[in-house]
Amino acid sequence: MRRMKFTLGAVTALALSTAAFASEVAPDAVDFTDDGVTMSLTGVAGDPVAGAETFKSRKLGNCLACHANSDMSGELFHGDVGPELDGVADRWDEPMLRAIVANSKQIFTDETIMPGFYSLEVGAHLNEDLVGKTILSAQQVEDVVAYLGTLKE
Ligand code: HEC
Repeated sequence: MRRMKFTLGAVTALALSTAAFASEVAPDAVDFTDDGVTMSLTGVAGDPVAGAETFKSRKLGNCLACHANSDMSGELFHGDVGPELDGVADRWDEPMLRAIVANSKQIFTDETIMPGFYSLEVGAHLNEDLVGKTILSAQQVEDVVAYLGTLKE
């Protein structure tokens, strides 16, 4: 009887972790509408503190390479290739911010040099190791979007 219980518990745990993964929107299934991406990519609220870390990490978002952001004035080297992100949440709402971060080409033009962070369309100039992968995970996108939502003037 004890043995039986153990087996059931293991099966339940497996089913739960599969379900959590299945609720994540795959990179090629993101629904871009005129209003942006209205649904969370994970169903888990973004964490702005984790998002700030992803934003400034040179290995993850590396957003500062192209964008100045006064909120991170303590960080070195703010690029000026893209617009300053001060007050960006006053210019774009959450669904549009999610769309811009997930795949900026859907919002701007195909020519934008901003990478699609949750897209499989990896530009030819990007590292081949990224083929078939996304730069950020779905949850990292949600976290960055939550952080951008704090940038109000
Ligand atoms: C290689 C340069 C580059 C990187 C890296 C980059 N961006 Fe951008 N981004 C741009 C450019 C350029 C634009 C302006 C749109 C255009 O002209 O293509 C832009 C536009 C934006 C906008 C709209 C800003 C506005 O005021 O209209 C947001 C939001 C944004 N980027 C967020 C991010 C975030 C968050 C990251 C990191 C996860 C990031 N970007 C990384 C180049 C970049």
